[in-house]
Amino acid sequence: MIVGLVRISPADKLSLREWRNDPSVSKWMYTNHQIGEEEHNSWFDAMLADASKVYWKIVADGVAVGSVFLTGVSSQGSSCEWGMYLADMNARGKGVAQAACALSFRYAFNELVVDVVKCEAVAQNENAIGLYESVGYVRTGLQIDAVKRGDEMLSVVTLELTRESWNMSESRVLQKLSEKGVSING
Ligand SMILES: CC(C)(COP(=O)(O)OP(=O)(O)OC[C@H]1O[C@@H](n2cnc3c(N)ncnc32)[C@H](O)[C@@H]1OP(=O)(O)O)[C@@H](O)C(=O)NCCC(=O)NCCS
Repeated sequence: MIVGLVRISPADKLSLREWRNDPSVSKWMYTNHQIGEEEHNSWFDAMLADASKVYWKIVADGVAVGSVFLTGVSSQGSSCEWGMYLADMNARGKGVAQAACALSFRYAFNELVVDVVKCEAVAQNENAIGLYESVGYVRTGLQIDAVKRGDEMLSVVTLELTRESWNMSESRVLQKLSEKGVSING
């Protein structure tokens, strides 16, 4: 399987809303209401025009299966935030997510030249945290009941990946991908 990243363009507006509204994705987000067309369109147009945000679609063997993104990017900043999801269940558990991690980390460390990439996950999201730790992310904290979602309070794990940590993890991640039959395009 070949995995690549393609920058989100106006043609992806509908897919992004469908992916984000898929219950398998939205259940792990800080808000999980069904996002309507109007709400989505104003978010999407602002996102595309915002230089501090870099959104890609993850393409596996020619099929767009999810998204990975950097936010809080600035020319002065030495860090940025990062996130991802796979909306296509067929793409999960195969190394596609790890490939998208590798490609987006290369962009962050090599093109944006940040020193650290940060992310967060709902504490019960073992798949996401397992993925993140498998590519070199290290836990930096646990915020108990940090996010109110409807009647629920969600605890949040914070993680970060430093340039040094990625330098140490990259060859191991690429080896793992090759064992899974995944090559990365980029
Ligand atoms: C999070 C997500 C992108 C992970 O993608 P995935 O394809 O399911 O990831 P994989 O199953 O390939 O797992 C990747 C790594 O995580 C590890 N992992 C997965 N689940 C794990 C668990 N419960 N505990 C420990 N490790 C786990 C795997 O073992 C694998 O590492 P390995 O190659 O060293 O064995 C995907 O599940 C998803 O999109 N979920 C919904 C949206 C979401 O939660 N996004 C993140 C919000 S913070």
